Amino acid sequence: MADLKIQGLAKSYRDVRVLESIDLAIASGEFFTLLGPSGCGKTTLLRTIAGFQHQDRGEIIVNGERIDHKPAHKRDIGMVFQDYAVFPHLTVADNVAFGLKARSLPKSEIEARVAEALKMVRLEGYQNRLPAEMSGGQQQRIGLARAMAIRPTLLLMDEPLSNLDAKLRIELREDIRDIQRRLGITTIYVTHDQEEALAVSDRICVMNKGNVEQIGTPFEIYRKPLRRFAATFVGTMNLLPGVIEDGHLLISGHRIAYPATPGGVEVAIRPENVLLAGMPYDGEAIALKGIVQKVTFLGREAHYTLKTDAGEIVAQVADPAHDFIAMEGRQVDVRLPLQKIVLFRENGDVIDAGQA
Ligand SMILES: Nc1ncnc2c1ncn2[C@@H]1O[C@H](COP(=O)(O)OP(=O)(O)O)[C@@H](O)[C@H]1O
Ligand SMILES: [Mg+2]
Repeated sequence: MADLKIQGLAKSYRDVRVLESIDLAIASGEFFTLLGPSGCGKTTLLRTIAGFQHQDRGEIIVNGERIDHKPAHKRDIGMVFQDYAVFPHLTVADNVAFGLKARSLPKSEIEARVAEALKMVRLEGYQNRLPAEMSGGQQQRIGLARAMAIRPTLLLMDEPLSNLDAKLRIELREDIRDIQRRLGITTIYVTHDQEEALAVSDRICVMNKGNVEQIGTPFEIYRKPLRRFAATFVGTMNLLPGVIEDGHLLISGHRIAYPATPGGVEVAIRPENVLLAGMPYDGEAIALKGIVQKVTFLGREAHYTLKTDAGEIVAQVADPAHDFIAMEGRQVDVRLPLQKIVLFRENGDVIDAGQA
């Protein structure tokens, strides 16, 4: 059981700042995910925690004790990599035993731990195989078993599922989540895949350009985004230009009482909250006229791209009926429920987080 604090962590490569000044507090047993686009500094942050490289400034504290001066192998951290990083010439068992041999444990103890770790990742019976004889998903299970065999206080995973196909990704992420829950091991998981982050995490840290944009539960990140970046990176968000003036929101000829300081804004709404045609809704809404540009039928839902006076809007309709699907080119009433809109300032800060 371990909690982790990161304070003022900064890192540059030559003169390029890759981590600005990161502050994080991760609770014992938490599944904490770093989510952000490629190049935002996720791997750099993870490798710095693991001790594979050193920060320029800041502290890394585990259970109240600074670990950032320790070499990687003394930090008691298990790490799983995107490319599996298994040794091709070693058997599955020897791969899993690797970190244990480096710790010079007795042979019987090593054997017991290897068996335990292989059982955990459901690779019993594969001890004597070589990695080349295993699928990508199985090779990553070896990587996970190797990380867990040392019984680390922290488990770090850097895009462990990125090289797998969609079906395996979902299967293995469920397994990882189950193992993490069962053992209660504090875990930092890196991904650029927002759906994966929502599916597995206790909390998500959305990163952008070496900065933390927002930290929250998956629900909070999706429904109460604090920055435009988080709102658009996680899920889909329609953004329409508006203005706050004299205590009113002006959008496409509409004027709605809205007490906020004046200035340009972006009116944000999720596709699933846009109402089309005769969908029932009693509350206050911004009413627009739309022309259906495109319909994408996906079985249990359909996506409609609409041209409106306020801008282009994507609407997601659950359980679409046939007359809804065959709507391309038609004019349709579009309503944006006020309760569901989120406003962002031009600098990207939220004004009213609403309930996206
Ligand atoms: N060893 C390095 N030397 C110079 N620049 C690096 C090095 N490693 C990463 N970078 C740069 O740092 C930035 C962040 O990289 P990284 O942490 O790998 O991001 P992510 O994992 O989020 O994709 C990128 O712009 C990348 O090009
Ligand atoms: Mg990376």
